[in-house]
Amino acid sequence: MTARRPAFARWLDDKNEITRMFLAAGSIPNLVNLAGGLPEPSTYPVEELAELARRAVAEHPGDALSYPPIDGLPALRDALAAKYATPALRLTRDNVLITSGGMQGLDLAGKALLDPGALIAAQSPAYLGALDAWRPRAPSYRPFFPDRNDFDPDAALAGAQFGYAVPNFSNPTGKLVGRDARAAMVCAARATGTWLVEDDPYGALYFDAAPLPSLQELDAAHETGDGPYDGPVVYMGSLSKQLVPGLRVGWVIAAPEMIAALTVAKQGSDMCTSGLSQRIALDALEGGAVARALPGILSLYRARRDALCAAMDAHLRPWWDWEVPVGGMFVWAVARDPAMNTDALLDVCMAEGVCVSPSSVFDPAGEDRRALRLNFTLNPEDKLAEGVRRLAVATEKFVARG
Ligand SMILES: Cc1ncc(COP(=O)(O)O)c(C=O)c1O
Repeated sequence: MTARRPAFARWLDDKNEITRMFLAAGSIPNLVNLAGGLPEPSTYPVEELAELARRAVAEHPGDALSYPPIDGLPALRDALAAKYATPALRLTRDNVLITSGGMQGLDLAGKALLDPGALIAAQSPAYLGALDAWRPRAPSYRPFFPDRNDFDPDAALAGAQFGYAVPNFSNPTGKLVGRDARAAMVCAARATGTWLVEDDPYGALYFDAAPLPSLQELDAAHETGDGPYDGPVVYMGSLSKQLVPGLRVGWVIAAPEMIAALTVAKQGSDMCTSGLSQRIALDALEGGAVARALPGILSLYRARRDALCAAMDAHLRPWWDWEVPVGGMFVWAVARDPAMNTDALLDVCMAEGVCVSPSSVFDPAGEDRRALRLNFTLNPEDKLAEGVRRLAVATEKFVARG
């Protein structure tokens, strides 16, 4: 007889069937998958990265093949400090931690800042990956909505371990947080003594407008003294959406005491980010591969955004409202009927051959059933149009059922 095995940790009971369904969608034939959030692989500079990888191993075997320092290759930390520094935002290597993707920054923030039940103030709807990263720590959430007229940043952040915001082209809504709301959030973080996590994987993906200043840049104006940045904003960046996700290179820029705490957390997570990846990332940043890749990415995504939105205009107006995003990877469609249930609509969508992401998975409370996230980066224009046509058929059938 086999003895019963120990149970899995309790947080794993907190299952989300919807997430599972849309993650499986990628392997269903003929389905148009508008649910994902992946970059377009044809934008990857394959030959250039192959050469950088060869050079990393041949010319820098110590960096590429050994264990690098936990906090990252010093040259990459220096390069990122130089990239983000402004006259007001003074950065040194001690302000920079290299992470295994932006995702690890979120995970480490959870490890370093959350005891069970701790409060997170989260811009909502929120990135599903962040909610997943923090789920094992059983936090409680206070949602906030920076684009609403009644947004009160002090009330939003007071008493929270940290605020979490994606000011550039939020995942899932694709919206920008405006300059005034950014400035107000930074003041509130200082006034309330709360850390403010600024998650910025999409900051390079402005298609039509000049980039707004980051929360950290705005916050630097409040710094006194002439030492390195010591404020509350914990900025997280990544190469995933501006070069390739497969290197798994991201970074955190923050006060040295935060970098030190996250470094302790990282030691117990993966000990270090791949030195080979870091060396390629360094050469891609300094040698211009990142800058060269970006114009192609922007023009492809802009055309796909336009194709998706044109198809939406043609087919979805009777039931859905949305704003055309000025960058990023997503359009957020909100049902005109407040009684819409997009969890239930998803079944009809799947039967019609289109997969979309329902809003419930991005709501920390799991309750929002009124909206959908549509991705435009991964499908060619004709497939985007076909996906929208199928979504219109599914919506019409769903609404007719009553
Ligand atoms: C808002 C947000 N944060 C962080 C990430 C993590 O990205 P990566 O780990 O690939 O850098 C993503 C990925 O989609 C994201 O949308």
